[in-house]
Amino acid sequence: MKIGCSVFFGGLVILLAHGQYAQTTNEKVDKMIQGIQKFSLNLLHKVILYREEKMQHVNEMISPFSVWTMLLMLYHGAKGKTFEQLRDVMGITVEEAELKKFYEDTRELRDADSSELEIRSWQKLYHSKNYLINSDYNNVTYEYDMGPDRKDFEQQVGYINDDIRAATNDYIHATIQKNSISGARMLLVSAIYFMAKWKHPFNEKLTREEPFYNETSPYRQIAKVSMMMQIAKFAYVDEIKGLNARVLELPYGTEDTLAMLVMLPNRGSSVKQVVNNLMKLGLLSILDSFTNRDAENDVEVKIPKLNTYSAYILPKFLYQIGLEDVVTSNKANLEGMTKGPDSIKMSLSHSLHFSRIIMDEMGTPGATPKPARSNKTGVIEFHMNKPFIYLVVQKELKLILFAGAVRNRDRK
Ligand SMILES: *[C@@H]1O[C@H](CO)[C@@H](O)[C@H](O)[C@H]1NC(C)=O
Ligand SMILES: *[C@@H]1O[C@H](CO)[C@@H](O)[C@H](O)[C@H]1NC(C)=O
Ligand SMILES: *[C@@H]1O[C@H](CO)[C@@H](O)[C@H](O)[C@H]1NC(C)=O
Repeated sequence: MKIGCSVFFGGLVILLAHGQYAQTTNEKVDKMIQGIQKFSLNLLHKVILYREEKMQHVNEMISPFSVWTMLLMLYHGAKGKTFEQLRDVMGITVEEAELKKFYEDTRELRDADSSELEIRSWQKLYHSKNYLINSDYNNVTYEYDMGPDRKDFEQQVGYINDDIRAATNDYIHATIQKNSISGARMLLVSAIYFMAKWKHPFNEKLTREEPFYNETSPYRQIAKVSMMMQIAKFAYVDEIKGLNARVLELPYGTEDTLAMLVMLPNRGSSVKQVVNNLMKLGLLSILDSFTNRDAENDVEVKIPKLNTYSAYILPKFLYQIGLEDVVTSNKANLEGMTKGPDSIKMSLSHSLHFSRIIMDEMGTPGATPKPARSNKTGVIEFHMNKPFIYLVVQKELKLILFAGAVRNRDRK
């Protein structure tokens, strides 16, 4: 790997050639980051599969990193097999002090507010008033700003909805219903809002209503979308062995540290297949192919504007990625958190994830869109006019901040 300079990201020293995918200098942390990548793609896979099976052709997004962060609350209270499963599935390789430091170092990925980037992320643990929380657990988690907060779920659901709204700057209006959490032992919530400015903005005047097609029947229109368009130099890779999709990097901001990787399934392939391939290949093989590619190409990018809100009930997905015990009432061992009444042990009975992403033409302050070009000689077309996948990646830490699919079926 080419080493250009070293920078600090929080407290982690990162080696990188500017704007490249890099490695940290701490082997254990690197290993953990790989674990988090695996966790992230596994979770994405289960979520995408679920919608496909239900034939829900909706846009969706999760924030794997925010779910991972939320799970730290369980990790710190878990014992025995429950603990082992969490450590394994979350890819945690370090001990308490270093984990805490990693949490601090990645704070900017949960909370950013600049002219280029807005991230509001929030995690919180509420528990039924029937449980008494151990004071040492309280002390450890106090430093993570996530609770725990004692609630009478039946009576106080309104407060929880208000909390979410306030913490996400009014972008996420959760409407958790009383009956959906009645009898809850615990409610673990993560909510995240994301909006960033492109390094290469789109020209609003070029945005048009255009058709969006069925992924398996390429000439069958399933929706009309507001399609943004531009031609500029972008990093692009079309030959990643085993992925069956072309990948384009759309950088955010001026610093080149955050980018959206869009994956457009090849003709005959599908979102489901590509997510499957992605899980097997891992994020690093995608990032490596970007590091090793030749040069940036002139690419004509067409991508629909997006304003996606997604809500997930997490426990079944967590079960599917291997966190079986913590979501199972008679298996969970959260004795580090609470001993509780003997009859009903604490478990992750309820957990919700809310996310919202807004994607429009806007670039960083001062960046102006390139003028339209009539000469398209040598220009590669990358038209996202059928279902595709995207990952928002922090390039230095190689963490997946967001992952989603755009399917754009018109609502009937
Ligand atoms: C928790 O913190 C409080 C206040 O800092 C301290 O008095 C108490 O001893 C701590 N409890 C444990 C179990 O560490
Ligand atoms: C796409 O076409 C296939 C069959 O050609 C059909 O089964 C499927 O439901 C269509 N998808 C959408 C989103 O309309
Ligand atoms: C089109 O643009 C390319 C690259 O900018 C240039 O090399 C080529 O000469 C242009 N062709 C015409 C016909 O203008």
